[in-house]
Amino acid sequence: MQNVDVLLGLQWGDEGKGKLVDILSPSYDIIARFQGGPNAGHTLIFNGTKHILHTIPSGIFRDVIINLIGNGVVIDPIILVKEIKNIEAQGVEVKSRLLISKRAHLIMPSHRWLDAASEALKGKEKIGSTLKGIGPAYMDKTGRNGLRIGDIERNDFKNKFELLYQKHLQLLKYYNFSSIDEKQIQEWFESIEVLKQMQLVDGEHYINEALNKGKKVLAEGAQGTVLDIDFGTYPFVTSSNTITAGACTGLGISPTKIGNVYGIFKAYCTRVGSGPFPTELNDNLGEQIRQTGKEFGSTTGRPRRVGWLDLPALKYAIQLDGAQELVMMKADVLSELDTIKVCTHYHYNNQVIDYLPYDISETTITPIYQELKGWKKDISGCTTKRQLPKTVLKYIEFIEEHTGVKVSYLSVGPDREQIIKL
Ligand code: GDP
Ligand code: IMO
Ligand code: MG
Repeated sequence: MQNVDVLLGLQWGDEGKGKLVDILSPSYDIIARFQGGPNAGHTLIFNGTKHILHTIPSGIFRDVIINLIGNGVVIDPIILVKEIKNIEAQGVEVKSRLLISKRAHLIMPSHRWLDAASEALKGKEKIGSTLKGIGPAYMDKTGRNGLRIGDIERNDFKNKFELLYQKHLQLLKYYNFSSIDEKQIQEWFESIEVLKQMQLVDGEHYINEALNKGKKVLAEGAQGTVLDIDFGTYPFVTSSNTITAGACTGLGISPTKIGNVYGIFKAYCTRVGSGPFPTELNDNLGEQIRQTGKEFGSTTGRPRRVGWLDLPALKYAIQLDGAQELVMMKADVLSELDTIKVCTHYHYNNQVIDYLPYDISETTITPIYQELKGWKKDISGCTTKRQLPKTVLKYIEFIEEHTGVKVSYLSVGPDREQIIKL
């Protein structure tokens, strides 16, 4: 019997999960998304073409591999169908290799409107949501009102939809929300018809059977650990458990079946949306890194906030996820810098601490930095560890010493080929 390996983000999302899942996927039979929804944007670049996936797992471009959308995911049929058609248009077979758990919940157009209405009401305190309806869809799930993929095959589906839709319209009245677009409802139902042609399965049964037969499964996280609903910088988080434990509830596998956990992080930090970000660079250097790293959201196009690597936050994430192997991304982006700062500790209530406390607003903590030498060399063409400057290896060793976990891959560019096994 096999275990499920997990790959997830250790920061605030956009670490490069899509790229790495695509790279690792030939060693697996099944790639499974376990949480989040189309708030995710996972970028894959190969053969000179860029692909951005929102709901479909990042194994879809590899032959043979099965891609499962797990029960923990929330699905917007309009977005998913567009994604399927886009990929099919590139000559890639999707239908036979994409499975959708019947227990996955549906995002309705009114969930998106509620998301927008809630953010508008929050004003300056807004979360900076991707406005994909994630929060309201998970609220209906935990409130036991939600619609699930399995429901679309039932005769009473339209009634169930109408009941919830009318409730949403009442709520939208309370918000004084006026941008209701009924055309989206029609498009939503058209997309539901397309999804009826897809393989809808009991995902938990499928995956456990596959493990029993010796199949290898990689679970693909979305968002990042510090955006987790329980352990992230609440309320500036997403609405699902992004941590390794989320793979158990989001796929229907027991904790004893978790295998290797890959934790992935950038050589620096980014965050899109509002909320505390202790190491944020609000200066020209931040802008320089944003431009070099092309740090603009894959889902919304928003500029990502940029900052130095935050080791207390990274260690916190490694602990919560049980990460046994690390992957460092985007080292090439720091190539031009003379020196690179890394936050090793925080000043907090007149103390020096090396963990992420409950309250990390600007007024409570100040980062303490150590300065390391930059590599001052274009490393994007390096393909082996031996070709890397010593300064890069020193940077990696520094992180390994602080976290106690080995960095096993280094990414030096956005392309599938730009990866070094260390
Ligand atoms: P994900 O959400 O974790 O899959 O990450 P995103 O796709 O949202 O964001 C990562 C961005 O960085 C994408 O534009 C990738 O093409 C790009 N990228 C990934 N790895 C590297 C790398 O090592 N170097 C550079 N320069 N870009 C990278
Ligand atoms: P991937 O999988 C980065 C952020 C949003 C916002 C907060 C809540 O590509 O790494 P939501 O739409 O969930 O209500 O937004 O979470 N966020 C992400 N940031 N990467 C993501 O996904 C994100 N998904 C949500 O910007 O701050
Ligand atoms: Mg992303």
